[in-house]
Amino acid sequence: MKSATASAVQARAPRHVAIVMDGNGRWAERRHRPRSFGHREGQKALRATVEYCLRKEIRALTLFAFSSENWKRPAGEVGALMQLFLKALDREVDELHGYGVRIEFIGDLSAFSTELRERMHKAMDKTRENRALYANVAVNYGGRWDIAQAARRAAEAVSRGELSADAINEDSLAAYFSLAGQPPVDLFIRTGGEQRISNFLLWQLAYAELVFVDTLWPDVDASILDSAIGEFASRERRFGKTSAQVTGSPEQGAA
Ligand code: FPP
Repeated sequence: MKSATASAVQARAPRHVAIVMDGNGRWAERRHRPRSFGHREGQKALRATVEYCLRKEIRALTLFAFSSENWKRPAGEVGALMQLFLKALDREVDELHGYGVRIEFIGDLSAFSTELRERMHKAMDKTRENRALYANVAVNYGGRWDIAQAARRAAEAVSRGELSADAINEDSLAAYFSLAGQPPVDLFIRTGGEQRISNFLLWQLAYAELVFVDTLWPDVDASILDSAIGEFASRERRFGKTSAQVTGSPEQGAA
C-alpha cells in the first residue's frame, strides 16, 4: 500500500512535461567542438529523457527541437540538425514503437525536405495507436504560428458550415491547436539558464508551472529531471482559486 505522503506526491506528478532543450551550442563550445557536436550529445539526453518519462509513467512529453526562428542559424548548423533528425528517425522509431511511444511532430512541416516529411509522417502513422507516452517533437514550431493555424482552421470550419462563429470559445478552439486531446501541460522546463518561453507553447502553457535550470541540455540526466519534478510537486497550483480553497483550510479574514 502507498503511504499518504507517496500518494500526495503521486497526485502532484505532472502528466505532461514540456521542455526547451537549450544549451547544446554552449556545451560544445566549452569543449572547443562544433555546435553540431552539442546537438548530437543533446540527442542522447533527449533519448534518456524519453526513457525517464516512460519509467515515471508521465503521459506526455513535448520537446522543442527546432523553432520557426532556428532557420536563421548558419546553414551548416541547420543542415547538421536536419541530418540528425533524419538519422534519429531511422535509428529510434522502431525501438520507441516497441516501448509503446506515440511519436507526434508538431509545427509547420511543409518547410522540410520531402524525405524528412515522409519519414516524420511514417513515424507518426506507425506509432498512432501507442498509448504508453506521447512524445511530441516541435519542429519549425512557434506558439504564435499555432494560435494562427488554430484560428485559420476554425474559420475554415465556419465557412464550411461545420462550426458556428457563435460557438467559438476556449473549449471549441482548443480542438484546433497542436496537442489537442492530450493532457494539459503541467510542467515547463527550460535548461541552459535563460528564463523565457521563446514562442514555445503559448496557449498550452496557460496554467503550467515554469521551472528554469542552469544545466546545459546535454548534461541533463535523471537527477536534474527529478529535481524539476520535485520543484513542481512543491508548488501550490491554484488555477485562480485562493490557497484556502485549494488546501481545504479555513479562509483567513474571508468576507
Ligand atoms: C538549443 O540549443 C537546441 C536546439 C536548437 C536543437 C535541439 C535539438 C536536439 C536536442 C537534437 C536532437 C533532436 C531530435 C528531434 C533528434 P542551442 O543550440 O540554442 O544552445 P546554445 O543556447 O548553447 O547556443
